[in-house]
Parts: sequence; structure tokens; C-alpha cells
Amino acid sequence: MLTSEETTCIIEKALKGLYSDSTPRELYEPINYMISIGGKRLRPKLCLLTYSLFSDKIDKCIINPAIALEIFHGFTLIHDDIMDKADLRRGEPTVYKKWNSNTAILSGDVMCIKSYDLLSSCPSGKLGEIMKLFTKTAAEVCEGQQLDMNFETENSISLQDYLKMIGLKTAVLIACAAKSGAIIANADSKVCEALYDYGYQLGLAFQIQDDLLDTFGESSTFGKTIGGDIANNKKTWLLIECIDRLKATNNKKGLTTLIECMSSHSINPKEKFDKIKSLYISSGTQEAAEKSIVNYFNNAIQIIERLPFNRKQYNALEDFASKLLHRQK
Ligand code: IPE
Ligand code: IPE
Ligand code: MG
Ligand code: MG
Ligand code: MG
Repeated sequence: MLTSEETTCIIEKALKGLYSDSTPRELYEPINYMISIGGKRLRPKLCLLTYSLFSDKIDKCIINPAIALEIFHGFTLIHDDIMDKADLRRGEPTVYKKWNSNTAILSGDVMCIKSYDLLSSCPSGKLGEIMKLFTKTAAEVCEGQQLDMNFETENSISLQDYLKMIGLKTAVLIACAAKSGAIIANADSKVCEALYDYGYQLGLAFQIQDDLLDTFGESSTFGKTIGGDIANNKKTWLLIECIDRLKATNNKKGLTTLIECMSSHSINPKEKFDKIKSLYISSGTQEAAEKSIVNYFNNAIQIIERLPFNRKQYNALEDFASKLLHRQK
């Protein structure tokens, strides 16, 4: 099985070689920038991990599909930052801020196309299954992103609506990463399916944590501007839970503050952030979010506990999940 250092090394080397001297420069420079400013490489790491549970043969049949996931993810981030009006990504200016939106759109588009090219390096016997899974996933991510934007102006989003939305925008790609590695390694189809579910539960935990860090994280570590979700009236786990809690405790003052903050166009952004953050703390929402993250993490662990894995395989998957649970970035 690959060590985590070996995995990182394989991914970074493959990413570096991708666009070394592609032209026109204006199209590829933003992509190289996006790759070079870092990122956790969570999706390719997970794909290589689930592959290496079953196979030690590391070549382009698995490396390129793993990298495809990171390139696709990079494309979604570049476009997401335009949609979310975000100025910071991975601790650096976002692509559309550093260049402009047209550049960000086109460089993102060509990354999406590249991901299909990379994916087609998988073993020919697996190509149909991999393409079908990836194409379905890619469409789902777009559907989730649209729901995320629709929800900005909707005021009665339930936890169920939210879970559907983050399942699509975030969890399916992580699930696809986990399943693809196993498919390419020719693992049993039931195991592939279970690894998809493991990735999906981890993905839900991951997005709730992203929501939490967007309000409670440190910008210098998180790499994004804190408070973007509050500024955009995003229907995050925190906001939905906070409204439920204020209603359940009949906290009319809290509810009025929240509604005023969200509907006012003239409120100072810092004041809006501080008021909503205080409500998240005083209503117990922050703590509840931490518990909910652990809950989805535990779901992921229970899925792998039921699989016929040896200690080493189980530990590798457990270790991957634990690292995510304790992330600050
Ligand atoms: C950010 O993903 C978008 C979400 C799904 C929350 P990551 O947190 O994996 O971003 P990078 O790749 O590490 O920058
Ligand atoms: C983004 O969710 C999910 C995708 C990019 C598909 P967010 O909008 O919360 O991600 P960040 O916080 O900007 O990374
Ligand atoms: Mg977004
Ligand atoms: Mg965003
Ligand atoms: Mg976010």
C-alpha cells in the first residue's frame, strides 16, 4: 500500500507535468497558478488510496484518473469563486480577481475538458463504467451548485434540502473518487459501492466543516476570506440549525436580528457577520455543527467496519477520514 508521502509525491509530480508548456499562455497560466498555490489534493489522494487497498501497480492507468479528479475540482473552484464573489482561494487571490471573469470561465472550461482526457487513461475494460460514473457526478456537481445559488434567495430551506444540495455539490465527487480507485483496481462491485457510500458520508461531514470554518476558521490557515457565506446569505448548516434553534426556544429577538441582517441591503458587512456569528455561538449552533460533523464521520467509519478488510486496509481508510475530521483548512 502507498504511504501518504508517496501518494503526495505521485500527485504533485503528475500535476506539475500537465501544462508545462501549453499555449496560449493566457489560457494555461491561470491553471498552473491554481495548481501551484496548493490545495489539500483530497480527491486524488482518496482515489489512489482506495486503489492501493487492492493493487500495488502504480502507473498512468490510476495516476491520470486520480489527477482528473483534482483538475475537475479545480475547474469547479475557479467557477465557484466567480459565483460566490470570493477574493481569496488557497491563501492567494482567486483566478477571476487576479485575471478576470472571462479568463476564469475559459481556463475552467478547458480544465473540465482535460479531466475527461485524463480519465480515459484508465484500463480499457473499465472505461465505460468510469466515464458513466464521472459524467453523472459532474452533472450532479453542477446541479448542487445551482441549488446552492437558488437557496441564496430562498428563506425556508430545510435541513433535508440542505443535505440534498451539499450531497450534490460536494459529497458526490468525494464518493466518486473513492469508488473510482476501487473500480480501477478491479475490486468487487459491492465493495466499490460501499466505498462510494463511505466517500459520500465523508463528503457531507466535509461540507458542514467547510461551512463551520467559513465563520469560525482563521483566514490565514483556511485560505479563504472568513464570512463569505454570511455575506452571500448562503443557506449553510449553521444558518438552518440556528433558525431552528431560535424558533424552538421562542427567541423572537434573535430571530428578528437574524432576519434583519439577512434582508438589509445597507447593513455594514462586518456588523452583519458579528451579529450572526454571535447568534451561532449563543444558540449552541457552533457546538451542534461540530457534533453533526462527527456524526457523518461515524457513518463513514461504520460503512468501512462492515467491509471484509484486513487491519491495514481498514486503518488506511480510518486514518484518511480522521485527518479530515481534524482539519482547519
Ligand atoms: C473546497 O474544497 C470546496 C468544497 C467542497 C468545500 P477543498 O477544501 O478540498 O479545497 P482545496 O482543494 O483543498 O483547496
Ligand atoms: C463549493 O462549495 C463546492 C464546489 C466548488 C463544487 P463552497 O462555495 O462552500 O466552497 P468554498 O468554500 O468556496 O471552497
Ligand atoms: Mg459556492
Ligand atoms: Mg465558494
Ligand atoms: Mg464554503
